[in-house]
Amino acid sequence: MKQLVSILLLFTLCNSCKKTVAPIKTGLIAEHAMVVSARVEASKIGSDILKKGGNAFDAMAATQLALAVAYPYAGNIGGGGFMIYRKSDGDIGALDYREKAPLAATKSMYLDEKGEVIPEKSTIGAMAVGIPGSVAGIFAVHEKFGSLPIEAIIRPSINLALKGVIVTKKQAAKIKRYQPLFFKANKDSILFSKAWKEKDTIKYPALAKTLERLLIHGKDEFYKGETAKRLVRFIQENGGIITEEDLAKYTVKWRKPTTFMYDDLKIISMPPPSSGGVCLAQIMTMVEPYDLHEFGHNSVKSIQVITEAERRAFADRSFYLGDPDFVNIPDDTLISKSYLNDRMRTFSFEKATLSSDVSHGNVQVVESDETTHYSIVDPFGNAVSVTTTINGAYGSKLYCSDLGFFLNNEMDDFSSKPGAPNMFGLIGGIANSIVPEKRMLSSMTPTIIEKNDKLFMTVGTPGGSTIITSVLQTILNVHEFNMTMQEAVNAPRFHHQWLPDEIRMEPNSFDNTSILQLQKLGYSINEKDSPIIGKVDGILVLDDELLEGGADRRGDDTAIGF
Ligand code: DON
Repeated sequence: MKQLVSILLLFTLCNSCKKTVAPIKTGLIAEHAMVVSARVEASKIGSDILKKGGNAFDAMAATQLALAVAYPYAGNIGGGGFMIYRKSDGDIGALDYREKAPLAATKSMYLDEKGEVIPEKSTIGAMAVGIPGSVAGIFAVHEKFGSLPIEAIIRPSINLALKGVIVTKKQAAKIKRYQPLFFKANKDSILFSKAWKEKDTIKYPALAKTLERLLIHGKDEFYKGETAKRLVRFIQENGGIITEEDLAKYTVKWRKPTTFMYDDLKIISMPPPSSGGVCLAQIMTMVEPYDLHEFGHNSVKSIQVITEAERRAFADRSFYLGDPDFVNIPDDTLISKSYLNDRMRTFSFEKATLSSDVSHGNVQVVESDETTHYSIVDPFGNAVSVTTTINGAYGSKLYCSDLGFFLNNEMDDFSSKPGAPNMFGLIGGIANSIVPEKRMLSSMTPTIIEKNDKLFMTVGTPGGSTIITSVLQTILNVHEFNMTMQEAVNAPRFHHQWLPDEIRMEPNSFDNTSILQLQKLGYSINEKDSPIIGKVDGILVLDDELLEGGADRRGDDTAIGF
């Protein structure tokens, strides 16, 4: 197989081959271990930890911190996330370090006296902030599964913050784009108010000091110590409602992953409070009876089947899903074959189903009651898949200069008002209404896949509601359409989420004849609003156990391995 990989690589490089054989684009190949993340600095720090003998969990903690330094757009200690893991012995699990609503939060906190949603209140500034979970997540992972001392995990990120991070072209453009909102959200100018250009170096001394205190005092520094006090003072001075009690009460949750079979693949994904695993299971189970391989990649028929399954899954999402600590979710029924076969009974290749004709399915509920992903495989065979977020690009845009990080605007992931769309156009219901200490519903879908009882893939992406459909398409690209990991990640993507009733497509990526055909069948196509859909980072285990990284061309994402 090693030989085959070399041949594939040769094909990629060989120009004359292009005329007869489509070049196969393979991602980085490594023998032992790999980290794929949104920034080269973070992948390097994670990979170095593995080289030093650390395991995937050590690398998870180190990579999360490194992204907080190198990728303030989404990497964070001011937000939260989810981790799926699969240990080399086959043991699987999920960690929920999602943000929570503050104790003073109320159901109608984002509504005016007429009951209308107040624009920007849940997206910009201190009122948008949920209680951050990332630091608790990092320490929980390290405590339970880590093998290296915490100094080895945190020190590289302190050094990176002090040395500084070189601004990439994409980063310079993003900072410029969001600067007007930084001015709006912050009383004073912040580090990112400067006109940073490509190749400049940004140093993060305040963040380095915060990380140094975490190193000395541990998790409690963030939730009960000096950092907690300074953070609460800052949030309240900016009109927020988070208190010291909120921080002190924050806890992570270890959860049982959502698992299901698709052909011979066992998919292991994030359970509620993410909708990711349940929706992925629903969509994949609904498309499984159709021969996508035969239909072809991004063919009209494949797009129809996937779209119709997505439409139905997102309708269920908006009604049934929320924080399982607060609402009963009939997840076993929602992902059962019989229920999902029934859901697809109204689908026909002759004509698009209208979203206005689709509502949530009929399931009995028993009464009692801008993001980033990284994938890691270590030399011992452990794998982790982590998606972490401060929600929007640079979160609430509120930057705590004293502590050196952006705060999330995750409160917007709650349903502020039943039926009113959030920033991703997602419609929520009562299951996702705001309650103190509740976690807001997410779409994050960190996923690990087994084939023949062995590790096969670790995959995930940012992208709000498009996360679920991007993870889905990447898995199908490998499994149904025989793509390499890198090709699967690079391939053009589309998305449907029930409402609005349209297929969003990455522009200039789908052929016009197919688009016309879809329009004739009654599908509304939107190629304007999503220049990119997702930034997928994954690792595929090849037949001979070599690892192939897929680092999304859409960002500065990088695979590093050895
Ligand atoms: O948890 C969620 O579903 C969202 N807060 C994710 C946000 C996201 O992916 C933003 N990135 N583009």
